[in-house]
Amino acid sequence: MKYYPSSSSSSSFYYLVRERCLSKGRLSPFFMSFVLVTVIFLPFVFYSINPLNPISKHALDQRLPLFKPPPRIRFPGYDDVILNKCDLSKGHWVPDLHGSRYTNSSCTTIPDSKNCFRHGRGDRDFPNWRWKPEKCALPRFDPNTFLEFVKGKKLGFIGDSVARNHMESLLCLLSKVETPIDRYKDSEDRNRIWYFPNHDFTLIIIWTKFLVHDEERMINGSLSGTFNLYLDKIDEAWSKELPTLDYVIISDAHWFFRQVYLHDRSGVIGCVYCNAPNVTDYGVGFALKLALRSALKHINSCKNCKVRVTVVRTFSPAHFEDGGWNTGGRCNRTSPLSESQINMRGPEWQLRSLQLEEIEKARKEGGKLGKRFGVLDVTRAMMMRSDGHPGEFWGNKWMKGYNDCVHWCMPGPIDVWNDFLMAALIKEASFVS
Ligand SMILES: *[C@@H]1O[C@H](CO)[C@@H](O)[C@H](O)[C@H]1NC(C)=O
Ligand SMILES: *[C@@H]1O[C@H](CO)[C@@H](O)[C@H](O)[C@H]1NC(C)=O
Ligand SMILES: *[C@@H]1O[C@H](CO)[C@@H](O)[C@H](O)[C@H]1NC(C)=O
Ligand SMILES: *[C@@H]1O[C@H](CO)[C@@H](O)[C@H](O)[C@H]1NC(C)=O
Repeated sequence: MKYYPSSSSSSSFYYLVRERCLSKGRLSPFFMSFVLVTVIFLPFVFYSINPLNPISKHALDQRLPLFKPPPRIRFPGYDDVILNKCDLSKGHWVPDLHGSRYTNSSCTTIPDSKNCFRHGRGDRDFPNWRWKPEKCALPRFDPNTFLEFVKGKKLGFIGDSVARNHMESLLCLLSKVETPIDRYKDSEDRNRIWYFPNHDFTLIIIWTKFLVHDEERMINGSLSGTFNLYLDKIDEAWSKELPTLDYVIISDAHWFFRQVYLHDRSGVIGCVYCNAPNVTDYGVGFALKLALRSALKHINSCKNCKVRVTVVRTFSPAHFEDGGWNTGGRCNRTSPLSESQINMRGPEWQLRSLQLEEIEKARKEGGKLGKRFGVLDVTRAMMMRSDGHPGEFWGNKWMKGYNDCVHWCMPGPIDVWNDFLMAALIKEASFVS
């Protein structure tokens, strides 16, 4: 199947979303379409109304209170996970007789663009699958267990619109137990804070495109769609919030499929899609890897941070078939793909592998510091879920005819990310004592 069919044509949509990505046209068609496919929905969503130095151990011990698991709370069903008996990412989708755990009437916070049933999606089976790891059980997310676990704590999602999609899924799952108070929303609705008073739990989402500091280049007085990334500077949007967080979920990837110049202290060290004679194009993976490395290093070296568990979510694949995003590409399947139908040699899998390498490095470093790093390794599972995207059912007035094969319907397979999240938090927290 074709994930990223070639197409480099521009369209009125290009102007509509006010993005000037990669107009030089000298890039390979493959990468061009990969870029377009993966970035295109992001900007649109933001403009729409309803969006889409190591420290000494001694010093550390004094500063950080010891992690205490909530008293008398056990986590039934998670023994295999805690004992590391299996790789959660290896498994398959099995029909789930219980069906989806919320509906568009039980959850009032579903974003309109993810409310696929409301926009006419007719097939009903896609939410009724659960992820079954090969060698162990993965319990379904239980909102009571989760809320007890995070009682009195603050959890932050740090990332882009797919991170937002994940947070929205968590909100819906939690809303069965407690309706959160909407505490804060910025003018573009990119950053939000929700509060669950009965559990004194705060959920925050912090918008960041690249994790590190970025500046969009200006060409002749207008924004160019080309970004300078400063690998030695963390995006303040989240770094200033980090000291307040107990748990962190990091994910970012889609913005790296643009023309990007990478800077460190010494200056430009490389680029992505730049075609500049004296700068080396190292590709998306390189940029993604270095930005993630900077972010995780920052967490490990942050002296006034109390974050005990950081979880990184791996790459979430898009599924345009029979065309690119702007050439009629669609994702109208109604059941998951089988393992044999997914391409384990594609760019998604490479990105996921790079992410895992960086998490492993951070984990080693963090081990000396009492900081834990976990992974939500969702890439393989989601590669099979070409049926989980809104496709044409995202209610978009301005982009009729374009399919969203990047984000995920709610309810839908993205809810499984919270099954993974609960497991990752319980597993990592069990080590911090
Ligand atoms: C919920 O989904 C149904 C179809 O299942 C749709 O008719 C209805 O408009 C949706 N309701 C809301 C509030 O989104
Ligand atoms: C900037 O503007 C000048 C004069 O209008 C034009 O010649 C030049 O091509 C523009 N540069 C770019 C990169 O668009
Ligand atoms: C690359 O060459 C251009 C033009 O000679 C120059 O302006 C730019 O600073 C150079 N970039 C680097 C990283 O050396
Ligand atoms: C997807 O759309 C194409 C074109 O309209 C159609 O031929 C195909 O049968 C559809 N697939 C499903 C599963 O509905």
